[in-house]
Amino acid sequence: MRDWVSNSAARFVRRRLTAIWLICMISMGPQSPLSSPSSCLELKCLIVYRGPNWIHGVSGNPIMSIAQATKSVALDPEGKMIMLSPEGHLIDEEIASKIREFVSESVAEAFQYSNQQKENISAKTSVLSFFQEKLDDTDFSDAEEQLCLELLQFEGAGIGESIERQSLKFFSLEEHPDQDDYFVASTYQRILEHIAEAAKSHADIRFKEAVVSVHAAERGGNQDHTHQVTVKTSTGTSYTFDELVITCPLGWLKQNPGVFHPPLPGPLLQSIHNVSYGRLEKIYVKFPQAFWHINPNNPDASSVIQEQPVFAQFLSPTYAEHPVDIVWSQECLSLASLPAPHAQPTLLFYTWGPCGTEIVNRIADLMPHSRAYNEVLLSFLRPFFSRLPGYNPGSPECTPSSILATKWQLDPYAGNGSYCNFQVGIEEADRDIKMLRSGDGIGQKRGIWFAGEHTAPFVGLGTTTGAYWSGERAGREICEWLGLSQVDSNELRDDSLPSARQ
Ligand SMILES: *[C@@H]1O[C@H](CO)[C@@H](O)[C@H](O)[C@H]1NC(C)=O
Ligand SMILES: *[C@@H]1O[C@H](CO)[C@@H](O)[C@H](O)[C@H]1NC(C)=O
Ligand SMILES: *[C@@H]1O[C@H](CO)[C@@H](O)[C@H](O)[C@H]1NC(C)=O
Repeated sequence: MRDWVSNSAARFVRRRLTAIWLICMISMGPQSPLSSPSSCLELKCLIVYRGPNWIHGVSGNPIMSIAQATKSVALDPEGKMIMLSPEGHLIDEEIASKIREFVSESVAEAFQYSNQQKENISAKTSVLSFFQEKLDDTDFSDAEEQLCLELLQFEGAGIGESIERQSLKFFSLEEHPDQDDYFVASTYQRILEHIAEAAKSHADIRFKEAVVSVHAAERGGNQDHTHQVTVKTSTGTSYTFDELVITCPLGWLKQNPGVFHPPLPGPLLQSIHNVSYGRLEKIYVKFPQAFWHINPNNPDASSVIQEQPVFAQFLSPTYAEHPVDIVWSQECLSLASLPAPHAQPTLLFYTWGPCGTEIVNRIADLMPHSRAYNEVLLSFLRPFFSRLPGYNPGSPECTPSSILATKWQLDPYAGNGSYCNFQVGIEEADRDIKMLRSGDGIGQKRGIWFAGEHTAPFVGLGTTTGAYWSGERAGREICEWLGLSQVDSNELRDDSLPSARQ
């Protein structure tokens, strides 16, 4: 995501400046999508995306506009949602939709409550307790209540952490601009290319050079035209800039405060510490055929599509071996339900929190696609995909042809994780986010400006859209500081939240 941010900042500044050297665009890691399509990894002849898959919120979303302009295909995947009980049985559709409705209404209420009652909610309260109270007011049977609590766990896939750890006080910071989530069927590739265009043609981009130090002394004053920021990289090269936009992931900032000389301001360091970093991972598993489709040879018939499972949730499985202290609920999206030519007989599993960490650690030292790697991932996934309709253990169609898992938690350039979140204990998350954005004035004072998903407007935190907005914001701030243009602040996305309008 960091590449996006610097690119959107650069694009923005480009429009108003002729001097492109204003923005430093040193890529933080070897996995930059610009250097090679390596963030699209090849999964035996099909391209998958290790990075973002979704566009969160559609209205007024700049990423959605870019998706349209680049003819990318983004949609709400069609098909049936299925839910499997802890015993591995298909849950009756009527019950499933009843509890789904309850959970989704309660999430909306929790957003609203979090927004309106923030002052009065203890920082120690988790979203889970809000749900437990809501459940007490229903006439659900014990079994239904239990299912609701199980289903709530899947909110973790959005947050990148267990729901028990999600702060109620700051739950509204997890809101998106609206309720529509679109899957980018054609992958983010063309969107990213579009955003990167200006930077790729005008900027000097250096890959495979990790930043090892940033020297930014205080400016001598507003009129200090000699002030510069110096960045040293792992190749021993030094670069100097007038202004520096830093888009490193929050997780990287947490681990590398020592890079900055003099040190970052105390309140900024505290906010970097206060906001937590998520653990979302994904696993793609490809089959010779989408065996879970009723008629895999005729995936285009729209009446059939409605009947195909597109999304499966496996609630707290008692049938899958796992560490007793780790919630093992899983969910997967069927990429076979995407429109042609993007449909593929692949399931995309999302893991989060302690389970995500457990899986990543199991494959940490294994070569992707090696026998040992495949075996570890297969033994994790088989209990789940083998419970989808149409599974037949003897059939070659039901034997995966390729598996690929992300390992963001083992990637120090990704900050060993996914994106920011707000866990129980955090006292003033909204102030912390504002602090991460402003850097406690370090931009004006020392020429360092921050961007990235963790510095986004509240509705954009943790998303590509937010990362994009944050780049525009940083670009504007620099322009404003340099007196380069009249900035119309109406154009900037503000911090208003949808739940405040209800
Ligand atoms: C917080 O609680 C107090 C006392 O019960 C109440 O007066 C106040 O309105 C509450 N604040 C909000 C934002 O509801
Ligand atoms: C990040 O990942 C690297 C590489 O796997 C590992 O050596 C390091 O300990 C991790 N750091 C944290 C804070 O998890
Ligand atoms: C970070 O958290 C600490 C205590 O939890 C708090 O005192 C501090 O004000 C927070 N930082 C900001 C900028 O809000």
